[in-house]
Amino acid sequence: MDPRSEVLLRQADLFTGRVLLAGLPADGLLSQLPQAQAWCWNAADQASLAARFGERIGFGTQVPTVEFDAAVLFVPKAKEFSTWLLACLAARLNGKPLYLVGEKRGGIESAARQLEAFGKPRKLDSARHCQLWRVDVENAPPAPSLESQANTFSVDAPGGALNVVSLPGVFSHGRLDRGTALLLQHLEGLPAGALLDFGCGAGIVGAALKRRYPEATVTLLDVDAFAIAASALTLQANGLEAQLVCADGIDGAPCELAAIISNPPFHTGVHTHYEASENLLTKCSLHLRKGGRFAWSPIASCVIRRCWRPRWGTARRSMKVTASRSTRRKKPEAKRLRLPARLGRIRTVLGE
Ligand SMILES: C[S@@+](CC[C@H](N)C(=O)[O-])C[C@H]1O[C@@H](n2cnc3c(N)ncnc32)[C@H](O)[C@@H]1O
Repeated sequence: MDPRSEVLLRQADLFTGRVLLAGLPADGLLSQLPQAQAWCWNAADQASLAARFGERIGFGTQVPTVEFDAAVLFVPKAKEFSTWLLACLAARLNGKPLYLVGEKRGGIESAARQLEAFGKPRKLDSARHCQLWRVDVENAPPAPSLESQANTFSVDAPGGALNVVSLPGVFSHGRLDRGTALLLQHLEGLPAGALLDFGCGAGIVGAALKRRYPEATVTLLDVDAFAIAASALTLQANGLEAQLVCADGIDGAPCELAAIISNPPFHTGVHTHYEASENLLTKCSLHLRKGGRFAWSPIASCVIRRCWRPRWGTARRSMKVTASRSTRRKKPEAKRLRLPARLGRIRTVLGE
C-alpha cells in the first residue's frame, strides 16, 4: 500500500462516507473505503484501478459528476497543478471538508499553505514521511476552467515558429525542454508513413511532425489526460489535426509506424521510473514497419546508457539511432549505441 494511503487509513473514520479521492495511487485503498469514489487522470492508474473497482473510477481532466461530501487530493508534483485541482474540488465542497495528503519530499507542506484560500487548514497526521491536512471550505470559489490555466508560448521548429499551449502538471509547463529542442532539430528525412510522438506532453514534437509531414497520419500518445488536453490545444493553436491517444505505454500505439519519435519518461511524480521507457525500447519493434525509424532525445540516451550499463556485458548487437549522446554538440550526429541483447530485434526492423 502506498504510504499516503496508509496515512489516510490511520484516520479511516473520516473517510467512511461519500469521499472523492483525487489523483490516488493505484493500490487497494478503495477496498477499505467502500463508499469512496476516485478521480484519476493517469491512464495507467485508471486501468489498474478500474480492473478492481469498476465504475467507482472517474477518468479525465474534469472533476467527476458523482455526488461527494468530502474530497482528498493526493498532492501532485507541480504546485500550479495542485492550486488548480484544489480550486476545482473546493468549488464542489461549500461547508464541507477538503483533505490534502502527500509526501514531505513531494511538497505537502507548501501545498498545505494553498488550503488557506478556502479556510483554516489543520494538520491531522504525520507518518510514513507523509502528512494529512484538512480545511473546511468556508467560501467555495467558482470552478476554474482548464483553459484559464493554459500558458501559450512559441518555439522554433522546422518550418517556423510553433505555438505551444501547456497546462499545469504537464511536462515542462510553460517552457521548452532541452531534449525536446534537440529532437525538433532532427525531424528531417523521416520515412513516409504513420508517425508517433510517444509521451507527447504538450504535443510540441507531434505538432511539429504534423506540420512538417502534412500527408502523414500522426499519433500523439501520453499516459496523462492533461497532456492529451494540452496537445489538443497545441494542435488547435496551429490549425493542425492529429490522432490523440491517452494510454499507458507503447502497447496503446498503432502498428506499422514509419517512425517513433520520443523524449521518453524517466519519472513518475517525484520518483525515478524507467518502466515506460524500458517497455518502449523493448516493444517498439512490434509497432514499427520494416525500415521504420526510432529516435529518442539525446538526454534520454544518457539516462538509458547509465541505467543499462551494468547489463551491457551481454550485448551482442548494436542499433543506429538518430540524435546525439551529447547535448553540448552544436550539430548532433547519429551514434552507434550498444544495447542489451534483448533489444537486438530492433536492428532487424530498423534495417539500417
Ligand atoms: C520527458 S516528457 C516529454 C514530453 C514531450 N514529448 C516533450 O518533449 O515536451 C515524457 C512524457 O511521457 C509521458 N509518460 C510517462 N509515462 C508514460 C507511459 N507509461 N505511457 C505514455 N506516456 C507516458 C509523461 O506524461 C510525459 O508527458
